[in-house]
Amino acid sequence: MTALHWTSYESYPNMAAVLTAMHGGRKNAMAMAWHAPLSFEPPLYGAVVAPERFTHGLIVASGAFAVNFLPWEKADLIARVGRVSGHRVDKFRAFAIAERAVPDALAPLLADAYAILECRVVDRHRVGDHDLFVGEIVRIHHQEGAFTPQGYLDLNRVHPALYLGRDWYVTTDPASARRHSGR
Ligand SMILES: Cc1cc2nc3c(=O)[nH]c(=O)nc-3n(C[C@H](O)[C@H](O)[C@H](O)COP(=O)(O)O)c2cc1C
Repeated sequence: MTALHWTSYESYPNMAAVLTAMHGGRKNAMAMAWHAPLSFEPPLYGAVVAPERFTHGLIVASGAFAVNFLPWEKADLIARVGRVSGHRVDKFRAFAIAERAVPDALAPLLADAYAILECRVVDRHRVGDHDLFVGEIVRIHHQEGAFTPQGYLDLNRVHPALYLGRDWYVTTDPASARRHSGR
C-alpha cells in the first residue's frame, strides 16, 4: 500500500497572504496560504507555520505577527518570499520590500497590502508538522478605497491573490458576484 501523499490542493484556491514578524532588529516575511479567522469576540486570527520557518522563531521571540493581504498583481513578491528563507537571506533588503511607516507596529506592515491584521500571540498549538499561532487582532489597516461602504472587498478595485498550488496564482472575476440570501 502506498502512503497517502497530501498536498492540500483540494482546499485551494486560498488567499495567499504574507506573514511578517520582527525581533531584535531582524524583520522577515513569508508566503502563507494556511490561515483563518477564528473568533469575532475576542477578535482572533490563526496563522499556521512550520517550525523550521525563520518566521516561526521571530513570532515566538516577539509574540506578534502581521497578516498582509496583497493583490494578485503582487503575486511575484508573494512567490519570492515563499521561495527563500530568512535563515539565508534578508528578504526585506534583497527584494526591496516597501513598508508602511506606522509607529509601534508589532510587525512589518507591507506598503503593497490592501489590508493588514496586526496580531499579538495569545496561544500556540502544535498541529501535526505545523504550529497554529492564535493571534488577537489588535489593529487593522485598510488601503483607502479597497473596501466598499458595506465593508466588502471592492473587487472592481482590488484583485485578491489566490493560491492554486506550486507556482500558480489566480484572482476573482467580479462579474461572478451574485447575492444569495438562502431564502
Ligand atoms: C503561496 C505559498 C503559501 C505558503 N503557505 C505556507 C503556510 O501557510 N505555512 C507555512 O509554514 N509555509 C508556507 N509556505 C512556505 C513558506 O512561505 C516558505 O517555506 C518560506 O520560504 C519560509 O520563509 P522563512 O523561512 O523566511 O520564514 C508557503 C509558500 C508559498 C509559495
